[in-house]
Amino acid sequence: MGVGLGIDIFDVQPDFRTLIRDHRDGFDFLEVYSRGDWEHTDEPFSEIPADVPRTYHHEGLDPVGPSLCPDDTIAGCAKNQKLLNPPWTVEELAVRHIDGRYTDFFFPAILNADCVKATVANLRELAKRIPGPLLPENAPYEFVVGDMHLFDFMNEVAHGAECGLVLDLGHVWSYQLCVGKGDQPDDQISRLDLSRIIEVHLAGARIEDYEGGRIYRDLHGAGPIPEESLFLLRQLLGKLPNLKAITIEVEDASEAVAVAQARQVREIVQQIRPTWLEGVHVA
Ligand SMILES: [Fe+2]
Repeated sequence: MGVGLGIDIFDVQPDFRTLIRDHRDGFDFLEVYSRGDWEHTDEPFSEIPADVPRTYHHEGLDPVGPSLCPDDTIAGCAKNQKLLNPPWTVEELAVRHIDGRYTDFFFPAILNADCVKATVANLRELAKRIPGPLLPENAPYEFVVGDMHLFDFMNEVAHGAECGLVLDLGHVWSYQLCVGKGDQPDDQISRLDLSRIIEVHLAGARIEDYEGGRIYRDLHGAGPIPEESLFLLRQLLGKLPNLKAITIEVEDASEAVAVAQARQVREIVQQIRPTWLEGVHVA
């Protein structure tokens, strides 16, 4: 798939139509996000030309919850998947709904054996009902609950559910900040089964200081990509044998900033793993 841009189809900026019309040489594919909506997606999805490769980022399946999400949410995801026909669908290892109420942030997976068990069961059921592979992504952490390391949790989920993974590099750093390893973004990375990583995410972020530590806040396109995320990209690029896509999540960026961030990432890939780009760059 190459280097792509993660966009929200309801955003005024960046407008995916403008990106496709005026900046088509700036990205290889789009990762399409609809905030989990499936009732208003027919029209905007139909405006993405068939020759623009795409992946789909759903939200709201809540795969790390104690039980399977409601049927209408699964049907909604399946509907969007059929409309877009992406090679895979991405979903966070988080919950957005607690007892039917929408949470203000991604409530990340509790890192323990019970949560692994529930997540594997949910992902196995979802795989039966959603066409195409569903790839779970490590969510942003503002706090950590549980006795497992994030990378062990991800391994057990991927192996138990027999699925690939999306590794969000900013979210890796968010976890490291929570566990006191903020100065070593790649701490313990060798524990992670890197062969499972199909896609990598990068995004702009802001780091907030508080008494005793720092918290990572996703800004997506409304801020620069942290150096720590780019450090992780440089460290990992040569170690991901099944990497197929690098997505820069650019919601809220201007179109110019979006393609500038894609260029910044593409230059790193060109330095470290140029053969990976062969045959995918549209320009
Ligand atoms: Fe992400």
